[in-house]
Amino acid sequence: MDFKSLFRRKTIPSVLADLKAMELDSANSLVKNLRLIDLVAFGIAAIIGAGIFSTIGNAAHSGGPAVSLLFLFTAVACLFSALCYAEFASTIPISGSAYTYSYTVFGELVAWIIGWNLLMEYAIGNSTVAFSWSEYFTNLLTGVGLHMPDWLTNDYYTCSRATEGAALAVWQNAPTIGGLHIIFDLPAIFINILVTALVYIGIKETKKTGNMLVLLKMAVVLLVIVVGVFYVKPENWTPFAPNGMKGVLGGIAGVFFAYIGFDAISTTAEECKNPQKDLPRATVIVLIICSVLYLLVALVITGMVNYTELNVADPMAFIFEKYNLGFMAGIVSVSAVIAITSVFLVFQMGQPRIWMSMARDGLLPKAFGKIHPKYKTPSFATIMTGVVVALPTLLLNQEVVTDLCSIGTLFAFMLVSAGILFIDRGHEAERPVAFKVPYINGRFIVPALFVLCMVFLNEMPDDHNLLTGFSAEKVPYLLFFLTFGVLAVFSFLKNWSLIPVLGIVTNLYLIAGLGHLNWIRFGVWCAIGFVIYFLFSYKNSRLANAR
Ligand code: ALA
Repeated sequence: MDFKSLFRRKTIPSVLADLKAMELDSANSLVKNLRLIDLVAFGIAAIIGAGIFSTIGNAAHSGGPAVSLLFLFTAVACLFSALCYAEFASTIPISGSAYTYSYTVFGELVAWIIGWNLLMEYAIGNSTVAFSWSEYFTNLLTGVGLHMPDWLTNDYYTCSRATEGAALAVWQNAPTIGGLHIIFDLPAIFINILVTALVYIGIKETKKTGNMLVLLKMAVVLLVIVVGVFYVKPENWTPFAPNGMKGVLGGIAGVFFAYIGFDAISTTAEECKNPQKDLPRATVIVLIICSVLYLLVALVITGMVNYTELNVADPMAFIFEKYNLGFMAGIVSVSAVIAITSVFLVFQMGQPRIWMSMARDGLLPKAFGKIHPKYKTPSFATIMTGVVVALPTLLLNQEVVTDLCSIGTLFAFMLVSAGILFIDRGHEAERPVAFKVPYINGRFIVPALFVLCMVFLNEMPDDHNLLTGFSAEKVPYLLFFLTFGVLAVFSFLKNWSLIPVLGIVTNLYLIAGLGHLNWIRFGVWCAIGFVIYFLFSYKNSRLANAR
């Protein structure tokens, strides 16, 4: 094996030529149906879901009202990456998203590992969404007097490890076959099958359903803000950060999870009427809308109820129950099921489209790129997505899959940001790019920010503070500071563009906050990815066979 071949790249003109050829081959191309408004709807459908309806509760409990600042910080981190996504989407309007972008910049091995990590964002992320959906759905059923057996609404992973409490009771009371305890989350499997079928049938149907769900959930989030504002007691906002910075950062995984999804828009590139212009616009519009809504929801929730009480899975409904506004709590619970369904839909649609791109490049078996003759959707890849979403639902629990999803996604965001620093602009004379990340010279700003960070190092929470001794928990922060230092040096020497550099720094900071255990899991995941690459993809790559 030749080492250089691991970094063989696809050039941007070759990707664009492939795209043109595909568009001429109507049997193998997707239907161009999506306009700006549809993309914005898709983005909102992907973003507003389990995060704001559920994980915000724990984040607010850990950080207090200051969690609103974490929402703001995360929005800024996402905006840096969103601008980078937007430039790539405008330059290479192809379904593969971050995977294809990295193929043109960093070469095949990095592209593969990004594609492998996008699987964490989309398929494994959807397992998280399925768990949340099941929780709300089961609550709704209970609300109308229908109670499903506990062994059909819990996950095996949690129950098999339980030493006390409700989970242990589920384990002890579950039916067994030959010693095997039968415990699985039936509603999570049900929503997976239902949405997989919808996505299989077609983009047009998916679009219609998605748009409808988005309108409904936007209306409910606005209603929560407008009604909730009248019940805010400003004294609940003091103290603003009761558990200090450590408490605020404890909410990272939940808060970041709430933003995941804006990048899913780019996977629909081949189905857009005007991808070069509409994809960048939609990405930024969606992020701004969601950030504003999230910030307001965070302030309303922490203003209505003391943060100490927010450690619940359904905080949006809970705050209204506290004020005996049962009808509002009911509306919120029903809409949570709807909101979470739309997130599920978009992610279930994104995953097969990335696999399709990888199969076209020979990195996955050809079947993943097959388009259904009648429905014009990547049929085999869609079914496989259903299978891959189901497996973690059966084998893991929500916390593990949420963390995996967050770390995989942040890694992809970081590499897309880095990609803008090295993107090939040679082809732009012939084909101007409709959107570019605004260039601000990072020469002095990045080193200045780094120095500032070092000056305040001693003020940081214990687990960041490298001056107060060393432990395994601090390794991610050590790597963060080292990378930041290297970026500061290169920004100074090479006049690097500020926005992509800040994209790398902010996303890496969020990754560091996810803790060293997740880094280990992530390392194992990447190692499995490399094994598959060397066993299958390296040999079958289209680039290998083109030589
Ligand atoms: N952002 C999506 C959600 O919160 C993944 O459900």
